Amino acid sequence: MKKRLSEYIEYMQKLRDIEGIIQLLAWDKEVNIIPESAPFRSRQIALMSKLHHQMFTDEKFGELLNSLLNDSALPEKQRRNIELTWKDYQRARRIPQEFIEEFSELTSNAFHQWHKAKKNKQFEIFAPTLERIIQMVIEKAKLLGFQGTPYNALLNEYEEGLNVEECNRIFNALKPQLKEIINKIVSSGKKINTKFLNGNFSIEKQKEFNISMALQLGFDMRAGNISISPHPFTTQISINDSRITTSYNSRDITAAIFSTIHEFGHAIYDSNLPVEYYGTPCGSSMGMVIHESQSRLWENNIGRSLPFWEYFFPILRSFFYEKLSNVSPRKFYEAINVVKPSTIRIYADEVTYHFHIIIRYEIEVDLIEGKISVNDIPRRWNSLYKEYLGVEPENDAEGCLQDIHWSHGSFGYFPTYSLGSMFAAMLYEKMKETYPDFDLLISKGHFSHIVSFLRENIYNHGRYYSYSELIKLSTGKELSPSTFMKYVKTKYSDIYEVEL
Ligand code: CO
Repeated sequence: MKKRLSEYIEYMQKLRDIEGIIQLLAWDKEVNIIPESAPFRSRQIALMSKLHHQMFTDEKFGELLNSLLNDSALPEKQRRNIELTWKDYQRARRIPQEFIEEFSELTSNAFHQWHKAKKNKQFEIFAPTLERIIQMVIEKAKLLGFQGTPYNALLNEYEEGLNVEECNRIFNALKPQLKEIINKIVSSGKKINTKFLNGNFSIEKQKEFNISMALQLGFDMRAGNISISPHPFTTQISINDSRITTSYNSRDITAAIFSTIHEFGHAIYDSNLPVEYYGTPCGSSMGMVIHESQSRLWENNIGRSLPFWEYFFPILRSFFYEKLSNVSPRKFYEAINVVKPSTIRIYADEVTYHFHIIIRYEIEVDLIEGKISVNDIPRRWNSLYKEYLGVEPENDAEGCLQDIHWSHGSFGYFPTYSLGSMFAAMLYEKMKETYPDFDLLISKGHFSHIVSFLRENIYNHGRYYSYSELIKLSTGKELSPSTFMKYVKTKYSDIYEVEL
């Protein structure tokens, strides 16, 4: 038994090493190389990905897993490792190599079509490619297998066990309540000054501030770095090597700050996974619901709180004194929390944000279930924005073409953002119960209590529990929007001086 187990661990660590190589190539592609070199880098990444897939789906590896699966003498965590790897193995075996290659060619071509369509503000340019992507995504769902709707197979790709019943339960509860709150906020009449957030902010100074902020939050700069890329992301190359990217905008002081905090939330999770299970599921992070709960907890619940800015605003002000000398932490806090229905998701506040997700989710489900066709998207998109947020995109670039994800073939991904926020609010409440001086600690620049709580309740478990078990275990409750709604009501009735 021992020999086979160590064979398994060794093999998994090799696979993890290849993943690290792919991640490093991909990180470097986004951060360092010129566009003329990108196609060659993509080829290198594709080659390594193919090698990874071949190794992972190798029949001999399957035999090894199978023999360990029936081994009753395995320690509990290793038994769980084998169980999860067996599931992953079977799933990977269901998708043929030719399918992966065709899909990857289609989506890399789709990126250019999407980009062109967005530039020309014309959905029609992207429509034929998107149609083909959707066909292939449906085919993939069939290959993977599903219960109920094919969309469930896609959701499972991002968080094992997630399904449309769960999404509908959350979103249907959220919709009327959020709508009411947004209406009350908009009609409260309170005008919040946000002018000082825009202007000319030196990128060098912004960098300095962002790095010092990440350090203070607990990011270990010896074991990672923060660089620049157009679309911020985080990657954990291996142990003690965590890469964050952020994106600076000289006209907007908040853009980099919140993307840095968001990515920090991802990075601190990845870099605190149990080292003793490196390469195996118990040493890996959960799916996107849990990962986004971590980033959004830091970004919104913590990073957009008053105590956070009681500590950080004086520091930020010292970097940009001319611009911010007359602003108080409270005024800054209000400015970064303005609620305003808009057409663009990435600029949305934490209240209206969920409608951006719900709209895309509803359209995605209808597309995958064949209830609407690709040509219906712009009309349906615009009418849902009108219905839920009372705004209408001026053109397709501002509407259904705004995000890159469909060109990647990512269907079933967006709901994880909202569900992650729901869980983040539950964790936030639980931490406040656990540490009565939670806010005070933050206002003094202490964050280690947050990291300790998350280490004990989230990081240490790797993928041992299912996402719903992990939620229950860490908060004592099932995933629900009620804690999030309570959080929103408390926070925004104070900011807008209105009863919510
Ligand atoms: Co994220």
